[in-house]
Amino acid sequence: MYNLTERNVVLGVTGSIAAYKTADLASKLTQAGARVDVVMSSEATRFVSPLTFEGVTGRRAYSDMFDTPPGAAELHIELARRADILVVAPAAATSLARLALGLAEEMVSLTALATRAPMVVCPAMDSQMFEHAATQANLEILRARGVHIVGPEEGRLASGQMGRGRLSEVETILGAVRQALGRDGDLAGKKVVVSAGGTREAIDPVRFISNHSSGKMGFALAEAARDRGADVSLVSTVTTMPCPYGVALAPVETVAQMREAVLAACREADVLIMAAAVSDYRPAERAEQKVKKGPERWALDLVKNPDFLLEVPDGLVKVGFAAESEELLANARQKLQAKRLDLIAANNIAAEGSGFGTDTNKVTLLSPDGDEDDLPLMSKYDVAGRILDRVVQMLEGKARR
Ligand code: PMT
Repeated sequence: MYNLTERNVVLGVTGSIAAYKTADLASKLTQAGARVDVVMSSEATRFVSPLTFEGVTGRRAYSDMFDTPPGAAELHIELARRADILVVAPAAATSLARLALGLAEEMVSLTALATRAPMVVCPAMDSQMFEHAATQANLEILRARGVHIVGPEEGRLASGQMGRGRLSEVETILGAVRQALGRDGDLAGKKVVVSAGGTREAIDPVRFISNHSSGKMGFALAEAARDRGADVSLVSTVTTMPCPYGVALAPVETVAQMREAVLAACREADVLIMAAAVSDYRPAERAEQKVKKGPERWALDLVKNPDFLLEVPDGLVKVGFAAESEELLANARQKLQAKRLDLIAANNIAAEGSGFGTDTNKVTLLSPDGDEDDLPLMSKYDVAGRILDRVVQMLEGKARR
């Protein structure tokens, strides 16, 4: 479950054509378990109806600041008080100015002035307006106040011109909201390094040795650690999935590159989680040119790759994975010891819905004291959550020593 479950999100919508995209954001936040109260500036209601948001959130959307039932607390004060986060998307140029100057003129700026919750602001406007010194100064004021500014992105604008001013993608905004909500989580202040994907070892310019790792397990770990406040570095061979918002990506391809990137990131880290499927061997030589079809049989000469988990200095919490097709627990336990790990996830790749490329996973967590935690099949994000629960316990144990 994402850290949005049961959280109170106030979503401020202001006057930009991008307001229609915010209906999707409101829907995704609601689907992730958040209670979403939409407040709209009067300009926003010219672009999208409050009814649209009510349809996707199942809750009233407010655009009239005087619409408080008699005897009730003032609407904006009530919303501001219970908000866990205020997200303004899209934030048009006028709204940025109102937020920066504290001009409480309509529902969004009024609620923003009243709340002490973290704020995520997602600008969207024409690039000329965005680049204007006034807009840039307003953004600076907001940043200095600790507001998270997300976007805008480059692309086609409503004017038909190309430029910087597009509202960030809904997935990006969701990532920013999750990061902001997790900022005081149980991994706040901790640096977590995660590896993901299958390494590629070139045979020649067109062929390589690799495996079926999609990177999903590693990406889920990176997202889950970010959602709990960690500062996350993701060393990944996968470039087909967008890097989770707020996570620092080190793209790599070979074992040598992954080794270098992981060891460099570990110098400053508290935790290393190796979810990557690392090639044990690589071709002894990489042919400069494409190898031509020849005899009926062709033996490839392979040399062993370094097992760099062993090179990671002591002091970090080290978690490994073992994808096994037989003798799952015995093989995993052997790797736990040989690689001097604090925890290993024995990954049953023979189970339905588990292992390479799936959205779910089936693992047993093994620790050096002999403890075995056999987890049911669950989403890779939830598996990541269970691993991180153990990581937090281990970090607390180290801190007490
Ligand atoms: O990416 P997905 O499609 O989501 O799939 C996820 C996964 C199946 C790849 C993942 O859950 C998993 O099990 N990864 C480990 C794969 C594996 O079997 O690794 P291994 O047994 O070769 O190595 C054991 C541990 O040592 C791993 O943590 C590995 O990253 C590390 N290792 C391995 C070799 C090497 N040269 N250096 C290493 O550090």
